[in-house]
Amino acid sequence: MNNLLIEWLGDRVKILDQTRLPQEEAYLELTGYQAIASAITEMRIRGAPAIGILGAYGIALGALKIEAESRDEFLARLREINHTLASTRPTARNLFRAIDRMQRVAEAGRNIEQIKESLINQAIKIHGEEAEATRKLSQFGAELIEDGFTILTHCNTGALATAGYGTALGVIKQAKEQGKNIKVLATETRPLLQGARLTTWELKKTDIPFTLITDSMAGYFMSRGEVDCIIVGADRIAANGDTANKIGTYSLAVLAMENGIPFYIAAPTTTVDLSLASGNEIPIEQRNPEEVTNIQGLSITPEGTQAANPAFDVTPHHYITAIITERGIIKEPYIERLKGIC
Ligand code: MRU
Repeated sequence: MNNLLIEWLGDRVKILDQTRLPQEEAYLELTGYQAIASAITEMRIRGAPAIGILGAYGIALGALKIEAESRDEFLARLREINHTLASTRPTARNLFRAIDRMQRVAEAGRNIEQIKESLINQAIKIHGEEAEATRKLSQFGAELIEDGFTILTHCNTGALATAGYGTALGVIKQAKEQGKNIKVLATETRPLLQGARLTTWELKKTDIPFTLITDSMAGYFMSRGEVDCIIVGADRIAANGDTANKIGTYSLAVLAMENGIPFYIAAPTTTVDLSLASGNEIPIEQRNPEEVTNIQGLSITPEGTQAANPAFDVTPHHYITAIITERGIIKEPYIERLKGIC
């Protein structure tokens, strides 16, 4: 499934539409960068690494279709494409890192044809590197999982979120592959139910036993001693280790500390943003309140109900036991150790 989640087809990109899961495995073929930008905004592809990969293919596809008289005109049009893709989802660092990389490659190119070719190659490279990073970080992270552990995870952080092996879910899958007898508690992840719809869909394809819980049940299971560790992914990690991840992560981290449970972040270094001193500077995406007042298209509130919908929250670094990356596992002081590996 990994390669099929996002597939470059030469003049279009094929994606598995995650909004239709788990009911349907429906694929879309996107033929222009605007369609790719919409697919990211609408969360047909979501998860920080996967957004970065699709963004890079979006630039390659957009570039391929530019008809320009000069290199300068081409680069100006490319900047517009980059701007459109950068305006889709603000929090995941991987998207902006991919856009910067693609822009640098374009500026280094000699002529239009050569730039187009190097942008395609660069997008394929970004895809390969992101996938490989999740494979490696999963191997490091699996060392933290002991036989018999019950692991609580939030949102979806597997192949669907990474177009690779997975971050938090990758660690869990790797621990199972090492023969450890483990169980998973997966939170449903309101409002868009990435846990209920996507993590369960991925876990069903493995032989890892799992139980779905609502987000508000997490404290109950922690207080009863039924959680051995928590592993989640990240959308952006500031220089001091403060981490933005799916809304609800902060509450889990505070509850974990209260109950003496290790709380791990698993993320490739492409998610780290050393330009931001702390989590206060991380832009938090505010999504349409209808995602809260409706569940899968069905209204659950009286008409006119006001709702808030921040898509992410920030967990201060002192709640984080360790950050698992493809370059190793790091602990406090994050400010020095992140600088050392990024
Ligand atoms: O809004 P989403 O579904 O894109 O949010 C995804 C998450 O918060 C993940 O935990 C994060 O991107 C890391 S996934 C490898």
